[in-house]
Amino acid sequence: MCGIVGYIGDKDAPLICLQGLRRLEYRGYDSAGISVVVDGLLDTRKVVGKLDNLEALLQTEPLHGPVGIGHTRWATHGKPSVDNSHPHLSCAGDLAVVHNGIIENYSELREQLRGEGHEFRSQTDTEVIAHLIEKLYQGNLGDAVRAACHELRGSFALGVIHQSHPDLLIGARRFSPLVVGIGKGENFIASDMGAIRKWTDQVYVIGDDEMGEITSQGIELFDLEKQPVHREIFNIPWPAEAAEKGGHKHFMHKEIHEQPAAMRECLLGRLSSPDKPIVLEGLNMTDDDIRGLKKVIFAACGTAYHAGLVGSFLMENFARIPSEGDLAAELRARNPVVLEGTLAILVSQSGETADTLVALRELKEKGARVVSVINVVDSSIARESDGVVYIQAGPEIGVASTKAYTLQVLTLQMLACHFAEVRGVQPPEVLRDMKIGIMNVPEQAAECLAREDDVKAVAAKYYQLHNALYLGRGISLPTAMEGALKLKEISYIHAEGYSAGEMKHGPIALVEPALFTVAVAVQGDVYEKMVGNIQEIKAREGPVIALATDGDEYIPGEADDVMWVPACPELISAATAQIPLQLFAYHVADMKGCHIDQPRNLAKTVTVE
Ligand code: M6R
Repeated sequence: MCGIVGYIGDKDAPLICLQGLRRLEYRGYDSAGISVVVDGLLDTRKVVGKLDNLEALLQTEPLHGPVGIGHTRWATHGKPSVDNSHPHLSCAGDLAVVHNGIIENYSELREQLRGEGHEFRSQTDTEVIAHLIEKLYQGNLGDAVRAACHELRGSFALGVIHQSHPDLLIGARRFSPLVVGIGKGENFIASDMGAIRKWTDQVYVIGDDEMGEITSQGIELFDLEKQPVHREIFNIPWPAEAAEKGGHKHFMHKEIHEQPAAMRECLLGRLSSPDKPIVLEGLNMTDDDIRGLKKVIFAACGTAYHAGLVGSFLMENFARIPSEGDLAAELRARNPVVLEGTLAILVSQSGETADTLVALRELKEKGARVVSVINVVDSSIARESDGVVYIQAGPEIGVASTKAYTLQVLTLQMLACHFAEVRGVQPPEVLRDMKIGIMNVPEQAAECLAREDDVKAVAAKYYQLHNALYLGRGISLPTAMEGALKLKEISYIHAEGYSAGEMKHGPIALVEPALFTVAVAVQGDVYEKMVGNIQEIKAREGPVIALATDGDEYIPGEADDVMWVPACPELISAATAQIPLQLFAYHVADMKGCHIDQPRNLAKTVTVE
């Protein structure tokens, strides 16, 4: 989705904006632009396509200045074009606006402003903001932006500059993320702290309906009634290098390899001994609250939804609480019945996914207690939840989520184990084994990574095929679904994640030599049934790659190829079992020459419904 970077200070604003925008490329975009104020005049450059195009334009038509705003656009209203790309300007061309979000009442505002003589150059919703501020401007830019925000419906993170205010940068937000970066003699705005981490490790995470009036020397935060707002400084907990590739060909590859270390970090201070209770700071639930639970609803999107399915399975199977896993985008349409004693668990890497945020509000309004499992600290979903457990994965930049998934799963394993212990539903020795199993996950993840070359060799056999079926049962069904999602989003191979039990009810019709099946057949309760499914596919001449547990002597005789995982209890197999599937998808996509970190049409953080 769109990315914003703004700068004010003694450096060259376009250069900072361009470098900052490069760190937001992972969000997905189709056009880009930068505006600056220099010598009392506003100047703008915009292009369709990648930031390289913008950089090339800036070489032929240079832009310099001490205050500027930059933007990468992911088209919602109007196709990718120079006119539709941001920044958008007022009629007089004296003020520029960049925007992330959706203005829901843009049509009516547009008609009204047109009637008042404003001329529009684009099809975007954003352009109304520039004209609205222009209309409301009476010499004080902050007041004009504030007044405009009152008239806007929908979501926005804004950056605004005006040629009559060469030492002023304005940032404002409602529902779309925006941080204000704190520098010395310079300050920043950005839609993501990773964009400006190179220059500062301190930010204000501004809240909904709040604004920053920012000069090179200071930052003032206000609400929309112009009341001063106090926000604590947030110290970015990861180094600037965390947002770099660190020698890997792609961020995705780096992030896959970061998993063991990130998992150890995630367990630290929470699960340190099988003989001690699990401590989940931020959960904000007493033992009585946990004992009083009647139902747990998981809601999330994409990869996080798959983690929610694992969580839901564990919550019911191990913690013995009735549970369901929902697609956040579908939840509201169902008008869900929320009974007393319901806990809603929202899972999200970014903490900004619009569908998940809407589901959160729906569930909260209906009386559910809301806990979120989040990566990005202080994000919108985290802030609106009654409790939040951070997965502590560090920045995830590859659009295809990898380390966030396995850390979400690990966190949910701890949560389910904690609930089971507090509710007294599992014998002490079973709980102890579960905790030992969870504590072993980082080492097992490292073992899976050590076998990367074997997985790569399997990928080399299949990367030219066009269709794949991923099958799993029980707790391994989400593993199959997530494996298929990973393959399709980065390699564009059509892949379906399916219940192996359901296969006979339809998908088996697809089986033929040109469709390969990845069967998650790790040891456990459903292993024999999975072997039966593999045989059914082989009987129809479908090639099969099995994901199997070390020491399984039977499976190599059944499947064409095997990817191996270390032995572990089935209930905690989901995080480790995912790693060979991540590596498989990665190498298939790499062999196909795909744009792995920024797959076509995808955005890292989907801030529109
Ligand atoms: O930031 P979130 O975890 O809420 O994002 C949810 C999905 O958009 C995300 O997992 C998406 O499916 C990824 N591209 C998967 O790799």
